[in-house]
Amino acid sequence: MKLPAGPKLSSLLQTLRIIADPTGFLEACAAQYGDTFTLRVLGINSPPVVFFSDPDAIQAIFTTLADQFEFGKVTHVFRPLTGDLSLIMQDGARHQKQRQLLMPALHGESLYRCGNLICRITQTQTANWSTDALVPVQDAMLDISLEVILQVVFGLQPGERLLRLKSLLHTLLERVNSPLYSVQFFLPPLQQDLGKNSPWGGFLRLRQQIDQLLYAEIAERRHLITREPTQTERTDILSMLLTARDAAGEPLSDQELRDQLMTLLLLGHETTASGLTWALYWLHQNPETLTKLRAELDELSHQPEPMQVAQQPYLNAVCKEALRVYPIALISQPRKVKQTVSLAGYEFEPGAILIPCIYLAHRRSPTYPEATRFHPERFLTSKLSQYEYLPFGGGSRSCIGAALAMFEMKLILATLLNRFEFRLQQPSGQMARPARRGITFVPPGRFQLRVTQLRSTAPVAVG
Ligand code: HEM
Repeated sequence: MKLPAGPKLSSLLQTLRIIADPTGFLEACAAQYGDTFTLRVLGINSPPVVFFSDPDAIQAIFTTLADQFEFGKVTHVFRPLTGDLSLIMQDGARHQKQRQLLMPALHGESLYRCGNLICRITQTQTANWSTDALVPVQDAMLDISLEVILQVVFGLQPGERLLRLKSLLHTLLERVNSPLYSVQFFLPPLQQDLGKNSPWGGFLRLRQQIDQLLYAEIAERRHLITREPTQTERTDILSMLLTARDAAGEPLSDQELRDQLMTLLLLGHETTASGLTWALYWLHQNPETLTKLRAELDELSHQPEPMQVAQQPYLNAVCKEALRVYPIALISQPRKVKQTVSLAGYEFEPGAILIPCIYLAHRRSPTYPEATRFHPERFLTSKLSQYEYLPFGGGSRSCIGAALAMFEMKLILATLLNRFEFRLQQPSGQMARPARRGITFVPPGRFQLRVTQLRSTAPVAVG
């Protein structure tokens, strides 16, 4: 099989480079070899890993050739967290069936009804920010987005259970993100319960406490729905899932509900917080874009509806551009070739791994002139296809939370800008390189903003 060209470095060196500096290494390869190149990053004698950033090739992978691939088991490291019944652990027809069941809860009318709650959460979480306060942006965005997941997705009402779950999940997610602790998810032999003070033993006990609270919530809500059907009018996603039925009319079991909730938490919390952190980072690095966005938001009526806020074109462009320059996920899920396929002028034999590269697709100069520049206007003037702009991936495993994530980012950003003025704590103008945090990429260092003014503008949300 004649493969696209790629670095001549040994497999070990390629692997080390992609781990140490993924964006730098990918850029260097694209500069030398173009839109399609082959890496050897899975060890000697392992299958070739081919990266694609040309929109036609990405389109073919997501659509016409989709049946010729299978998905690897990359998400299986999450199994101890999400459980066996999670959407991301399923393949084929079962996976599609689960997506159809989850999708309505995360789109359209049911989603837009959560708008006021998202704005209210942002206000409550930032109520004690005063003039001169120093805001550690990533941590602050993580707090807000965790609260959104717990109230909007899980439907927890403020109270003891919410507080307890938040604290336990906080500990869990911090541990999962710490490099030392996270190693055990990749190395099953380390997954040994050697008591509550051992890393895996600690994880299992933490998970058990979280599960107890989740199952208690599920049981209570099932009971409420049977006793008071009007409860089904609640706007949270768990309520929708409790009443969802598959094609055979079957509801989701308690374990299925628990596993889907943990999946939405794991994939929807850090990602959205990182997107928001980037948006705030770029806006404060580029004062003219910030001024333009503020002007657009200030034009809105006294207490606009969340939907009206979300429809503002410049706000939309800012959020999209923040997810373009440094996409939170650098790649779409790798595909393993099942039967020989022809693509981009090459033949790929069974076993080859093909990767649509989101990061490089977002950096192609034919599509994005001055690609490294934060320039939201590009989304006002040109219409880009879903194979040129793909922060949420694509094909059968594209992000099911994309609509929620965009809606949430816009409302949180607008609420923050309406309530506060900030100044960059770091010198502006420094070009950022993203830092890895768990499965996402965030602004480097501990990016901070200082509150310079509390604004008198009415908050975006209505009560
Ligand atoms: C800015 C925020 C977000 C970004 C950038 C993002 C990005 C992504 C990407 C790139 C994928 C993989 C797609 C592929 O392989 O082609 C994905 C999958 C997924 N995302 Fe998101 N996501 C975000 C927010 C969310 C939210 C808020 C939720 C839910 C509450 C969510 C739930 C999921 C799920 C369940 C999957 C797996 C889908 C499947 O396997 O069928 N994401 N996301």
